[in-house]
Amino acid sequence: MKKRLIFTHALPIELDEQMSQLFDIEIVSFDQLMLRDSVDCHALISILSDQLTAENLAKFPQCEVIAQYAVGVNNIDLDYCAKKGIIVCHTPDVLNAASADLAFSLLTSLARKIPEAQWAVRNNLWHGWNAFDYLGKSLDGIELGIIGMGKIGATFADLCRRSYGMKIFYHNRRPSPQGAALQAQYLELDELCRRCEIISVHTPLTTQTRHLIGEKELGLMRDDAILINTSRGEVIDQDALLVKLKEGKFFGVGLDVMTPEPLPFDHELTQIPRVLITPHIGSAQKQTRETMAWLCWRNCEEVLAGRSAITPVDLV
Ligand code: DGY
Repeated sequence: MKKRLIFTHALPIELDEQMSQLFDIEIVSFDQLMLRDSVDCHALISILSDQLTAENLAKFPQCEVIAQYAVGVNNIDLDYCAKKGIIVCHTPDVLNAASADLAFSLLTSLARKIPEAQWAVRNNLWHGWNAFDYLGKSLDGIELGIIGMGKIGATFADLCRRSYGMKIFYHNRRPSPQGAALQAQYLELDELCRRCEIISVHTPLTTQTRHLIGEKELGLMRDDAILINTSRGEVIDQDALLVKLKEGKFFGVGLDVMTPEPLPFDHELTQIPRVLITPHIGSAQKQTRETMAWLCWRNCEEVLAGRSAITPVDLV
């Protein structure tokens, strides 16, 4: 009997004859799946909005492998998976460049006040050239603080260093090999917040990192800082951020991730011209997304054939 594989979302992968001979394949949204009493599937290819809580996972009694179409797996109850022997895979490495590139785009746009300039054009506030409007910040040689120096943070830091000769600082749970390779200086979180003119958040969302950047840390940041978040919205206390923005703090804030997603259309954050919001597009590059889809497929194929996963998440 063929094993069953479910995609909860259409992905950029061509499902050919050979693949269908291998597995029974179904593409069905997670919400639809949740209407079933029990889901008959051995492999699930999930996306980051699928709430794979213990309660929901209990509906997948035969599931052997979950391949998450993302590097972050904060939507999956990993303890439950470990207990039930479900192998969880994700898509690390293949999206480092795309994600770092997005963070870099947010940064350079904010440094040149492009969101505010665009706001003026779109709202009929452009009344002619003058020498004092939309004056940007030079990024040359300034101090960059990375919160979460993993592979994406390091790729972004390297891009900033090569482009602008920035001096790199970082904070992690502990000094990281990526930090050492970049000759970046490790700082305690408070010190990094106080010191760096650019702060970019790249840490995964865990119980330890939820609201890691709260009222206190935001308060310590420089008034002229640029803050970027391309990791997960919940790492920053968004209400506290909004308060600081309304007080006039920050040169600019770039958010690719928010709480909740999608952010309500009329949310106050969308009304602040120096806040640049993108709809969680860190990995949204054609080639990257295709590679991610292929990696998910290959992980399922390997596990269902009784072999080791290619990119498993460490469940211990
Ligand atoms: C990830 O891979 O975790 C990203 O957030 C998806 O774009």
